Amino acid sequence: MQVSNRKFDVIIVGAGGSGMRCALQMARAGLDVAVLSKVFPTRSHTVAAQGGVAASLGNMSEDNWYWHMFDTVKGSDYLGDQDAIEFMCREAPSAVYELEHFGMPFDRNPDGTIYQRPFGGHTANFGEKAVQRACAAADRTGHAMLHTLYQQNVAARTHFFVEWMALDLIRNAEGEVLGVVALEMETGDVTIFEGKATVLATGGAGRIFAASTNAFINTGDGLGMAARAGIPLQDMEFWQFHPTGVSGAGVLITEGVRGEGGILLNANGERFMERYAPTYKDLAPRDFVSRSMDQEIKEGRGCGPRKDHVLLKLDHLGVETIHKRLPSIYEIALRFANVDCTKEPIPVVPTIHYQMGGIPANIHSEVVVPGADGSEQVVNGLYAIGECSCVSVHGANRLGTNSLLDLLVFGRSAGNRIIASDVHKRSHKPLPKDAAERSLARLAQLDATTSGEGSHVVADAIRSTMQSKCGVFRTEQLMAEGVRQIHDLAAQTERIYVKDKSRVFNMARIEALEVDNLIEVAKSTMVSAEARKESRGAHYHNDHTERDDQNWLKHTLWWRDGSRLSYKDVKLKPLTVEPFKPKARTF
Ligand code: FUM
Repeated sequence: MQVSNRKFDVIIVGAGGSGMRCALQMARAGLDVAVLSKVFPTRSHTVAAQGGVAASLGNMSEDNWYWHMFDTVKGSDYLGDQDAIEFMCREAPSAVYELEHFGMPFDRNPDGTIYQRPFGGHTANFGEKAVQRACAAADRTGHAMLHTLYQQNVAARTHFFVEWMALDLIRNAEGEVLGVVALEMETGDVTIFEGKATVLATGGAGRIFAASTNAFINTGDGLGMAARAGIPLQDMEFWQFHPTGVSGAGVLITEGVRGEGGILLNANGERFMERYAPTYKDLAPRDFVSRSMDQEIKEGRGCGPRKDHVLLKLDHLGVETIHKRLPSIYEIALRFANVDCTKEPIPVVPTIHYQMGGIPANIHSEVVVPGADGSEQVVNGLYAIGECSCVSVHGANRLGTNSLLDLLVFGRSAGNRIIASDVHKRSHKPLPKDAAERSLARLAQLDATTSGEGSHVVADAIRSTMQSKCGVFRTEQLMAEGVRQIHDLAAQTERIYVKDKSRVFNMARIEALEVDNLIEVAKSTMVSAEARKESRGAHYHNDHTERDDQNWLKHTLWWRDGSRLSYKDVKLKPLTVEPFKPKARTF
């Protein structure tokens, strides 16, 4: 197959919030930036982020970044790296004001300042009371953010390659990353994109689960590429269940509903979160609320004929508030649950939403791996930002609205780091002779396969295994079965059969390539989860129900080669302030 070649200063894979924020920083500084995306940029999954972006602006009441840092460290169940969390929380106000100046249409207070709403786990004065920290554009904050960033990037002359799927990283003998091999979905043609820096911004991989708030494009492409290139994946056992996905449909109902005063009810009409979290109630962190909901359902207090969900009541907020602050929720409830939420509650269940783990990166977004002496070594030329990265600012459980913040702060910091490293003044390094070999071999294998399972069959099997073996509550036995099943499925992915051999817009072929990435994410998740013998944040182990700081206050690294694990220390030392020592989490 003919492979063409294109050169840019920087290649960014993914056009969501982090990819576009990063691109903008560099394009404005005059760098030649290419952004590859499987979908039109404004359809990237950031578009689905609803409730807001966290920053201690203090527009509604007193707030400061150190309180935000405390909440994030506690929310992370102390697994977050405190240097990175300090960096993110300090940078938050400037990142949000900058976005405002780019044209982001935030909701306003009567005095013209940005409107902020409460969100789970965000408090004033180190947990004393809830604080309004989520800067919102109604319940379409991600949508507004993507459009703002896209328009600014067009003005800054970023090059967008729309409907291109990156397949593999290119590394030379020294381990440096020199770009990616990518497939144009319309033609099936393969191109090498050479970059002096390569940024993975491919978002999450929530499609490894059957019930997910994630878009169908969220197949973990960057994680698969990194794993195949010999880079470990960090803390993959930690997956966040969002408490309020529409029951049966999985569509997100923003935590902003509870921020505005919505409450969760069980079949007895009881506001059960008062029992589990007497202080924070419905606005406790997500891991806690999801487990409480699951417990209610398990104990027979679920709603509906199958007693399999709880109810989110918001009619008491009033028609005017619902239409002003939560217009998309009104539409989603009507279309996906057949419910007029100004009159009736919405049926909801905990639904997979966010991966806390990812490609290990430092606060400059450089990808780091352990060196021979255990110290962190930068993978030259490679950066990871947004949900596909693990900096780690979210540790074992992310606070709502810290995801949009993460992608703004680390998108910008990656851009700044690349500009400061003067890549644009250097020439491209020579490519290895076999730069495209792995991708071409996989495509040839798909072309040559004449029988076997379709990719949707294998993908569905991965999803149902992950859903049943690695859910809100996990057990020794379930996870051991899950590890076996996922490794069996890994062997099946090698034999995926695509009937249609044409190249032009062959989505079955694209799906087969996506399954190659899903399986890496599923393996890393199952193996990392099975090994962690404690309960921490989103990883709740029924046979080890306590957090165990003595043995498990450490990050997991999963290596594709041999599907093996190693561990590394959590950075408990912030940059400039006193650390927060691990304590029991109460709400
Ligand atoms: O509930 C939400 O609006 C989701 C926000 C988030 O995941 O940060």
